[in-house]
Amino acid sequence: MRFKGRVAIVTGGARGFGAAIAHLLSSEGAQVYAADLNAPQQTGLRALRLDVSDEKAWVAAVATVSSEAGQVDILVNNAGINIYPAAHEIELADWNRAIAVNQTGVMLGLRHVLPLMLLRGNGVVVNVSSTLGVVAVAGAIAYHATKGAVSQMTRNAAITYAAHGIRVNEVLPGISDTDLVRSQADEFTQASLTRTPMGRLGRATEIAAAVAFLASDDASFITGASLAVDGGYLAQ
Ligand SMILES: NC(=O)c1ccc[n+]([C@@H]2O[C@H](COP(=O)([O-])OP(=O)(O)OC[C@H]3O[C@@H](n4cnc5c(N)ncnc54)[C@H](O)[C@@H]3O)[C@@H](O)[C@H]2O)c1
Repeated sequence: MRFKGRVAIVTGGARGFGAAIAHLLSSEGAQVYAADLNAPQQTGLRALRLDVSDEKAWVAAVATVSSEAGQVDILVNNAGINIYPAAHEIELADWNRAIAVNQTGVMLGLRHVLPLMLLRGNGVVVNVSSTLGVVAVAGAIAYHATKGAVSQMTRNAAITYAAHGIRVNEVLPGISDTDLVRSQADEFTQASLTRTPMGRLGRATEIAAAVAFLASDDASFITGASLAVDGGYLAQ
């Protein structure tokens, strides 16, 4: 029961990695708010309707958690979308949407949850970036740009809040079996799998295990770290 008595917000908590993270934190004692555009399918979670790119929605969501639970111990900035076009093809609206959800969404989570953590002098943030925030494949310029930004925001926030009792880390998932990947072109998935040394897709539970480790006291001296959960992809 690593998270007994703790309160967690997991963005994108209704499906994919977020659902697995919410389930694991909850099964280990946390009171978990699944903050998503959609309602979570699993029971035992509190549903928080949230578009992470909408600042007013963040204000309302954090006010709800504050009044119900009185604190936020763990923030998992996981919600994200995939945008595939290369630089010469991308529409500005699609670029702006990727920035709004994947990048501004993470900043807004920090912006609105950190004040509560600062008041109490402790807290943990885990951001979900991607191997594609570190290395590139062809195309998907907005996805690369936003995930690289998440990694830099992780390091920035880790340094900024280290002396305030707040740890900030990130996981870098490799290609994994979720709706996000199931909905993409099969050739893109196959190309990523070919370059994955373990030769298989990751499982949402494997990403969740890494997030839970970073969120737990087992990681009490870890901040600013990037934990690849990628079947060896980044080791090449
Ligand atoms: N699946 C992969 O292979 C993979 C690899 C690396 C990184 N990631 C990253 O992991 C995170 C989760 O991905 P996933 O595969 O679980 O995706 P998914 O599409 O399976 O689930 C994403 C969840 O986020 C929610 N969401 C989307 N936009 C939102 C918004 N604006 N506000 C609130 N919620 C929103 C969706 O409703 C959904 O519940 C994303 O940031 C993604 O970029 C995924």
